[in-house]
Formats: sequence, structure tokens, C-alpha cells
Amino acid sequence: MTCILQPDQIEAFHRDGYVIVKSMFDAEETALLRRAMEEDPEIQDHILVRADGEGGGTKIALWNRAGSSVYGLAARCERMVDTAAELLGGEVYHYQSKLTAKDAGGGGAWEWHQDYGYWYYNGCLMPQLVSCMIALDHTTPENGCLQFLKGSHQLGRCDHVQLTPEQNCIDPEVVSAAETRLDRVHAELEPGDVVIFHCNLFHRSNQNLSDKRRWTLIICYNRVDNDTYKRIDDRYFVPLEKVDDGAIKRAGLKLADGQNGEHFTSKPYVPDVREAG
Ligand code: SIN
Ligand code: MN
Repeated sequence: MTCILQPDQIEAFHRDGYVIVKSMFDAEETALLRRAMEEDPEIQDHILVRADGEGGGTKIALWNRAGSSVYGLAARCERMVDTAAELLGGEVYHYQSKLTAKDAGGGGAWEWHQDYGYWYYNGCLMPQLVSCMIALDHTTPENGCLQFLKGSHQLGRCDHVQLTPEQNCIDPEVVSAAETRLDRVHAELEPGDVVIFHCNLFHRSNQNLSDKRRWTLIICYNRVDNDTYKRIDDRYFVPLEKVDDGAIKRAGLKLADGQNGEHFTSKPYVPDVREAG
């Protein structure tokens, strides 16, 4: 196991619901990932614009399988997989990857939500999933970095309501109450930094009204014994073939092969919480 975290960082993750890992990817690796997001025709062909409820939209691309492109290798490399496994307490598989690309001057907002507020409906019975957001650009409060309510993962899965047909958010009454008791923190990241957060952590981000782009790549893992009990939306257990940490640089700017082995999706998965409620 090559978990990259020190014991105090593991403790912080369990207490606060997140941990920031500085320079988890070095400058060369980050440049490869950034260029792949910018240049891969498969990514470009699968960009979706997700309405944000404030009249804006954020660009996303979603895929479910980690292949042999440079970004597939990033999802399969030891330092990522073993760190996720350590935090979740067992073997993991790749659940989903997502480019969230907020361009300068209007990239869309995300309202308060828990990832498990969505993923529960895929059939994951336990909140045993983590998201690893890799900064491709400098993320700041000005360009819409991630915000958390520290420790909110301890509230368990909260009710979500529909914000737009493409975005659900946590019941605003619950958010207001939680905000009086928990601190709001901004996850400011340098390119190559990674913030790893628990699937029940409340998170949101503002529109990017600055003149600085804010692109990030989010790679998510589920614990193998928490495999979806139903086979919808393509996120069930598929064995993850781990690669060594040097694989990213050896691959160079390796893009997807165009056969859609990554299982790019054509629309985001948004459970109908009106029906569920
Ligand atoms: C997400 O919560 O999935 C994305 C949030 C962001 O990109 O700011
Ligand atoms: Mn999220």
C-alpha cells in the first residue's frame, strides 16, 4: 500500500470530511492532465452544460471507466487508489470521473449538495465513497473554488430537493441550520493539489466571475463491498487494474482511443427526488 497521507491527515479526513494533499501530481503530470482535458476529442465531444439555477451553466464531461489514457492512468495509479482505499477502509474501484470546467467570466455555480445525495440512488447502500478533485488551474474564492461545511459528513445523508432539472441541492432549511453550527471553508488549490472529500460532505461553489479559468478533474472511488445493488447508470463494480505511479509520465499525452472504453455519458445522473420524497 502506498497511501500518500500521514496519520494526522487521515485523522483530519475522518474528523473534517476532507483533506488537501499538496502537489499530489507534479508539474509535468498536471500539465499532461490539463492538456488531455483540453485536447482530447473524446472529452470535447462529451462536454455537457449543466444549468446552475442562477442563469449560468458549468461545463462538465463524465465517464465511468478508467482506461489507458493519461487521465485513466491517473485514476488507476497507486498513490490515488491506495489513498482512497486507506480512507474508505477497504479495496476500491473507479466509480466516476468528471471534468468540471469553469471558464473565466461566468462558469456556473454548484449549490450545496452531497455526492451521496445522488449516488445513493445508484444503489450504493453505504456512504463509502470519496471524491478526489485534482486542480488543473489555481482554484480560489474568486474563480469559484470548492467550499465545504467542515464536518458536515457527520450529518449523514440529508434530503435533497430539485434546483434545476440537472441539479439537486440539500434542503435549504437544513443548510441554514448546519451553517450556524459548522464552519464554511474554501478549498484553495494550486495546480497538482488534490482535495479528497467524503461523499456526505456538504459542498458547493460559486460562479466564476473572475478573469481566471477554473478547471478541475474529479476522480471518485467506491469501496468494492459497497458495489451498487442495481445495475443502472454503469457505475457497478468493474475490477480496477492498478498501475505504478510512473505510468502517467511514461504515457505522456495519451488520449482516449476513440472506442469509448471510458463509457462517456451523454447526460448527468440526476435522481428524481420529488418522486423519491
Ligand atoms: C461537484 O460537486 O461535482 C463539482 C463542484 C465544482 O466543480 O465546483
Ligand atoms: Mn459534488
